[in-house]
Amino acid sequence: MFRTLPTPDPSEFAGKRVVVTGGSRGIGAAVVQRFLDGGATVVTTARTATDTTPAGAAFIPGDLSSADGVHAFASAALQHLGGVDVVVNNAGAARTHLGGIGTIPDDEWTDALDLNYLSAVRLNNALLPAVREAGAGSVIINISSGSAVLPAGPLAHYGAAKAALNAYGKALASELAPAGIRVTTVMPGNVLTPGADAIRQDFADAMGVDLAATTAAVPLGRPGDPRDIAEAVAYLASDRAQWVTGTTLTVDGGELPTF
Ligand SMILES: NC(=O)c1ccc[n+]([C@@H]2O[C@H](COP(=O)([O-])OP(=O)(O)OC[C@H]3O[C@@H](n4cnc5c(N)ncnc54)[C@H](OP(=O)(O)O)[C@@H]3O)[C@@H](O)[C@H]2O)c1
Repeated sequence: MFRTLPTPDPSEFAGKRVVVTGGSRGIGAAVVQRFLDGGATVVTTARTATDTTPAGAAFIPGDLSSADGVHAFASAALQHLGGVDVVVNNAGAARTHLGGIGTIPDDEWTDALDLNYLSAVRLNNALLPAVREAGAGSVIINISSGSAVLPAGPLAHYGAAKAALNAYGKALASELAPAGIRVTTVMPGNVLTPGADAIRQDFADAMGVDLAATTAAVPLGRPGDPRDIAEAVAYLASDRAQWVTGTTLTVDGGELPTF
């Protein structure tokens, strides 16, 4: 059972200008709400807003699967915020292929890379001048996946893209550390969200089990709530984590084996 979290300090992120991708639902919506609760000004994007998109954020519709889409969003976000202190690359998606890795079509490998890896690279590149201007204490957080280190065959293309994101984040952290800009990566485990539930349903159908069985092995006894990930992101974005960079934080209820 998810227990109530401590009430956020409403001034924790006061004055911070925050960009979160994929904030229309799921983990991204929880991250947006967590920054709003901490007093930040937040811009988010997705192709479509939903009734769970936090109302306190500016929503700029966009498709991050192409360079043009990312650049259009970056310009609009900068115009709205006038600068940026925190970037959270969260948008991502995966499509399951249960027929074997060889059945994943070529264009799905490139699609997976475009959305789950290159969207973050492109957005960070576009926002980096503003992040550098914001200076020491500004933060980039990339949302990866446990699939980066424990990939399942039907999601091999997605896992490979997330593994690339992990490696890229480490390199970016080293490059930006002298400027006091921190770069970290979060690897969620099984979190209950619309996107992940659909994927888990594919696995459940293939195994002939119900959806709950796909998360029954989480050592802490429950699947993740999007707020579990948002809390980790809030910590990494805050000055409480001022000596943390280049790290990959697993938030999964204990499911991933040590690596
Ligand atoms: N939930 C989990 O168990 C889990 C585990 C490991 C990692 N993750 C990672 O956590 C992140 C969030 O996942 P989630 O579970 O919250 O998924 P979700 O419920 O499907 O939400 C994904 C978000 O990304 C947006 N998005 C998808 N394609 C996009 C595109 N082409 N352009 C712009 N935005 C796009 C979606 O909005 P639109 O579709 O309207 O564009 C939505 O806002 C992803 O990077 C995912 O890989 C999740």
